[in-house]
Amino acid sequence: PAVSMTETAQDLLRSRVVAALTTAFGPDAAANPMLTPATKAGFGDYQCNAALSLAKKEGKRPRDVAAAIIDALDVSDFCEAPTVAGPGFINLTLTPAYVSGRLNAMLADLSRLGVTKRTGSAAKKVVVDFSSPNIAKEMHVGHLRSTIIGDSLCRLLEFLGHDVVRLNHVGDWGTQFGMLIQLLREEVPDFVAGTGELGDVDLGDLVVFYKRAKARFDVDPAFKEAAQREVVALQGGDEVSRRAWQAICGQSRVEFQKLYDTLRVEVTERGESFYNPYLADVVADLERQGLAVEDQGATVVFLEGAQFTNREGDRQPVIVRKSDGGFNYATTDLAAMRYRVQEDGAQRILYVTDIGQSLHFQQVFQVARRAGFVPEKVSLEHVPFGLVQGEDGKKFKTRSGDVVKLKDLLDEAVVRSRSELEARLAADNRTESPEYVQDVVSKVGIAAVKYADLKTSRTSNYRFSFDKMVKLDGDTAPYMMYAFVRTQGIYREAGGGRALEDMEGKDVAFAYPVAAELALAKTLLRLPEVLAELERDLCPHVLCEYMKGVSTLFNRFYEQCPVRGADSEAVKESRLALCAITASVIRRCLDLLGIQTLDKI
Ligand code: ARG
Repeated sequence: PAVSMTETAQDLLRSRVVAALTTAFGPDAAANPMLTPATKAGFGDYQCNAALSLAKKEGKRPRDVAAAIIDALDVSDFCEAPTVAGPGFINLTLTPAYVSGRLNAMLADLSRLGVTKRTGSAAKKVVVDFSSPNIAKEMHVGHLRSTIIGDSLCRLLEFLGHDVVRLNHVGDWGTQFGMLIQLLREEVPDFVAGTGELGDVDLGDLVVFYKRAKARFDVDPAFKEAAQREVVALQGGDEVSRRAWQAICGQSRVEFQKLYDTLRVEVTERGESFYNPYLADVVADLERQGLAVEDQGATVVFLEGAQFTNREGDRQPVIVRKSDGGFNYATTDLAAMRYRVQEDGAQRILYVTDIGQSLHFQQVFQVARRAGFVPEKVSLEHVPFGLVQGEDGKKFKTRSGDVVKLKDLLDEAVVRSRSELEARLAADNRTESPEYVQDVVSKVGIAAVKYADLKTSRTSNYRFSFDKMVKLDGDTAPYMMYAFVRTQGIYREAGGGRALEDMEGKDVAFAYPVAAELALAKTLLRLPEVLAELERDLCPHVLCEYMKGVSTLFNRFYEQCPVRGADSEAVKESRLALCAITASVIRRCLDLLGIQTLDKI
């Protein structure tokens, strides 16, 4: 059968290896074909490690098992003859003809680059719950991470053809509103009563307003009591309280939106308050099913499983209604899950929060499953991330010890990239217009923050360093943006002023006179595989590593393979096409990370 150019090499190899394992050792042996990209350059492009574990089961020597697999393996239509290495690894190397076929498939559509859109049952309705700051409380670096990572995952899933619902689960409900509203009632009674303006009360800095309210709450018993009454009034739907609540949320919304605009992130607000009307029913449903029971005045669900059972055999409870009758964070999440499945038709739900909430999600996921709110076929995934730390590895804060405001942080990144750019311009004796400089540094500054976050393995803590992230050389956004600029420049120069896109749709006779060309080509082919890995594991750093690999190989290609001065027109055309694909791959990767490209840097 002809080799498909829409399937990835890894998928193609996997099915062939599975067939070979089945023939040689039966279907059980084929359960895990142990096929991975090669771990070392000398080991071909992919390797199959199945022989090692099979040998134990079969009581044979691994190299003999490997030989038997190879005997049954038919890959001659797209691979060189397989070889056995080390204790029994099977090395697989793609043929140049196959590589060329796949490159032409990428070239046919530079916007998709051989990445097929998921269709039919493979296209899922995915809810991504991310960003989710809390009103009147500080939007901190954790929320920044959630926003950046969440947006990148949405971009990826959208690109792959899934139907993505971007939800901002804003903390817009809860006891903190009692004190806020009470203070508002005192300071601008006319506004609260609906007869006046907000006046000169500055809700702009709600955090300060919150601190003032909190300070009163802690020392003034009358205020405290009034605040508590206010919570009840708000939850009971009192009109005056509601107006005050809306004013507070509206103010916050404006502040949050500024940040989303700066980051160019789209997210739909559907805060905790949205689920308020469903909370009582959720608890009633849990009670009806016998899952929720009374415990010390509260309504709780006892969890199953060893991790939720202590040494005495007591099961840990999740509170779904507090003893004062109020609902909590967990109740809201249960209602939200039920809603997302029943109303939104979600098939996959992702929660992008810090790793500190892992336990919470394990608990509510379990309750939602047992209650039948989320059927087994819908996947619930907590997508946790590590802490942001200062350069010293300690808590990230300003010099005076305050929490770093996100706006200040992003402004600072722009300031730093401006100094970096200005120094570079001065060193190169280059002059650029102030508009140009402003445009570049505003894009590079934000890109630097995003990239530094995304390139770190998601679950590790990461050390925030302005100096490192704006550098042009290193594993940084500016470096990647520069790599893109370079591919374009080479192309313009060698291609007689043509644009990269002119290459699209051409049928190129690729040639690989220099090893660096084939190496680059094979890495470019891996894009669809990398995206499939990301789709499953949701790890943007894998994309950063891939892009880094592409630009390193491109640099080597550039040093060793003259484009304009190529030996023949055919080789030149092949190199131009490699530049075009490289540029499009880098641009696509950057886009999936939420980073814009520039024409000049
Ligand atoms: N507002 C929460 C926080 O700041 C995050 C909400 C995450 N989403 C959720 N469905 N619980 O920690």
